[in-house]
Amino acid sequence: MCAVVATTGTTNAGIIDDVAGVGEIARERGWWLHVDGAYGGAGMLAPELRQRYAGVEHADSIVMDPHKWWFAPFDCAALLYRDPRLAKAVHKQDASYLDVIHEHDDINPSDLAYHLTRRARGLPLWFSMAVHGIGAYRDAVQHSLEMARYAAAQIAAVTSSGWRGETVGRLVFLHPATTTDMVDEVIAALD
Ligand SMILES: Cc1ncc(COP(=O)(O)O)c(C=O)c1O
Repeated sequence: MCAVVATTGTTNAGIIDDVAGVGEIARERGWWLHVDGAYGGAGMLAPELRQRYAGVEHADSIVMDPHKWWFAPFDCAALLYRDPRLAKAVHKQDASYLDVIHEHDDINPSDLAYHLTRRARGLPLWFSMAVHGIGAYRDAVQHSLEMARYAAAQIAAVTSSGWRGETVGRLVFLHPATTTDMVDEVIAALD
């Protein structure tokens, strides 16, 4: 084994791995630590969540998808390397027509992924950040957290039961004065 991936925000459940713990083991064993923050990485902008991301500073590489929780148009992936020279050593391609960009010892973006030609995918993100500032991103992430909590509270107001091995919501109509409007209201709260 040579590498380990910790995820900060799994796609289905939003689980944030113990990056500090995984990182400690990775360091002891000399493994590369990659952090997959494609979906949930932006959550670290929220002060109340920042602690949950402890250890990301030890990553050898971390990816975030600006086209997800950074509100950018797709497709844009932001991949940061602790030491881009190692990435260059892996991804750099050689061809005589590329010699001109390899004359100097600096890093060309084409050295950091398999494709050579690419458009300026990061530009919309950069422009938006320059215009709105990081505070607007923090507020937008915070708003998502509040919406998630609100939705969870709405769902929790519906009692649950079990049916063929699955947890299901359970609506019980006992009161004779229950109206269809009330039923609609409950169903709308579940949408
Ligand atoms: C945790 C995680 N990693 C990676 C990906 C892949 O992202 P993309 O489709 O932008 O390549 C996703 C997509 O939902 C994701 O949630």
